[in-house]
Amino acid sequence: MHPGGPMPRINKTVVLALLIATSSIFLLFQLYYYRQYVSKNGLHALTGKGYLAGKEAQWHLVKRFLSLAHKFSLPVFLADKASLSLLSQDTVLLKDSQLKEPHCTFLCTNRDFITFGLLGNLWKYDASLLEAAEERGLELLEIRGKDPRLVSMDDLMGSEIPLHLLFRFNSRLVHVVVLYERSGNYLWHGPLRLKASMDRTFAPFRKLDFGRYAGAYDRPELILTTLDGLDVRIPKNFSRFLKENSNSHFLECRYREAAAFYQLYPDDTSPEAMDFRMKAKSLLHLAARVLTDLQVPFWLSSGTCLGWFRQCNIIPYSKDVDLGIWIKDYRHDITQAFQKAGLPLKHKFGKIEDSLELSFQGLDVKLDIFFFYEDGDIVWNGGTQAKSGKKFKYVFPRFSLCWTELLELKVRVPCETLDYVMANYGPDWNVPVKAWDWKSSPPNVQENGVWPIKEWDDVIQVF
Ligand SMILES: *[C@@H]1O[C@H](CO)[C@@H](O)[C@H](O)[C@H]1NC(C)=O
Repeated sequence: MHPGGPMPRINKTVVLALLIATSSIFLLFQLYYYRQYVSKNGLHALTGKGYLAGKEAQWHLVKRFLSLAHKFSLPVFLADKASLSLLSQDTVLLKDSQLKEPHCTFLCTNRDFITFGLLGNLWKYDASLLEAAEERGLELLEIRGKDPRLVSMDDLMGSEIPLHLLFRFNSRLVHVVVLYERSGNYLWHGPLRLKASMDRTFAPFRKLDFGRYAGAYDRPELILTTLDGLDVRIPKNFSRFLKENSNSHFLECRYREAAAFYQLYPDDTSPEAMDFRMKAKSLLHLAARVLTDLQVPFWLSSGTCLGWFRQCNIIPYSKDVDLGIWIKDYRHDITQAFQKAGLPLKHKFGKIEDSLELSFQGLDVKLDIFFFYEDGDIVWNGGTQAKSGKKFKYVFPRFSLCWTELLELKVRVPCETLDYVMANYGPDWNVPVKAWDWKSSPPNVQENGVWPIKEWDDVIQVF
């Protein structure tokens, strides 16, 4: 029993009223401050740490990264596939800096990473970058690899250079791909290979746009623009850059194997061999210029491909330069373009529908262009014997095209080079053979009938 007995009824009502009044005032205050806070800091601020979700977090990271890039004068440009795909010339011209409150449209995609390219030759490496990144709350993972510009058959070691930089913040990533200029006047980036000691969970490595393979690009012209309120450099012709990106796979020459080959079969350094190589090199450069101007993709074929694959050079006794072109890329003005460049047509065998082959006469060196036809799981090119009208067919397994460098030129080769070379030269491709007969030596040659005599004037043209 309470000694004072029950509380008087009137007191209870007053207490209740007081309680209601104070909580109402409290609520009003809360509402007032809520409104003040929102108008000052934006709605996001209220949700605390959670505001760094989605696009905002990405924007925040890009801002931090770009301020770091600015401080260290990193020559970076936007190289992100998803972001560049969102752009159209119009949006670039209409600088969205004119908007009062920019939104994160281009730099925030629904991926949790964004990619920048860094021009390695214009970059002065500064070790304090790591510290500065940490100060900004960014974790940095640097991936190094061999410098291919220093690797050659004489020096297989090479030194290590930074290939990829990964800046991480809140499980989001800025992937910086370092692009180095190589002797063929193109940009190269290395593959992204993790060392055993590295954290495999640092980034979604498999999803990244760059790094699965080494890649090669023409140097893009860059322009400064404003995207989502931030100043960024982008490739001026970003659709070209995107197109290059989808076919950028680069193969390094097999310097180690080539050095071993030359141990067994010392190189011919006679003046005649050197002279031939010099002429073949300038013919290759000239042919590349003509075909690139026509936008006709081509690759090293036959002996020229074998020379690159086996010995990273032209085979001095091969006597010609061989290129392959898909027949779908044939253009009627090819012959005229070569003639204009000082390479007259030497012979034309076959026709567009069947076994087309063109030869142009360079300075002591012949340029052979073989057109390739696709047929199910195989591809083939044709051959014609001028004096008998006999047709031949050279069959290869299907292949895709990769970039490589030969004699200071960025050129394509079949990515599946070993299969290609094996088809053409058999399992002993690694042994030099000087007596090679195109009608009988290749293991992939098939007899393919004879041209009808009435077609000879058209399909066998020798000049
Ligand atoms: C961009 O490059 C493509 C080749 O991929 C070319 O066809 C096009 O004309 C270029 N655009 C501009 C604006 O230069």
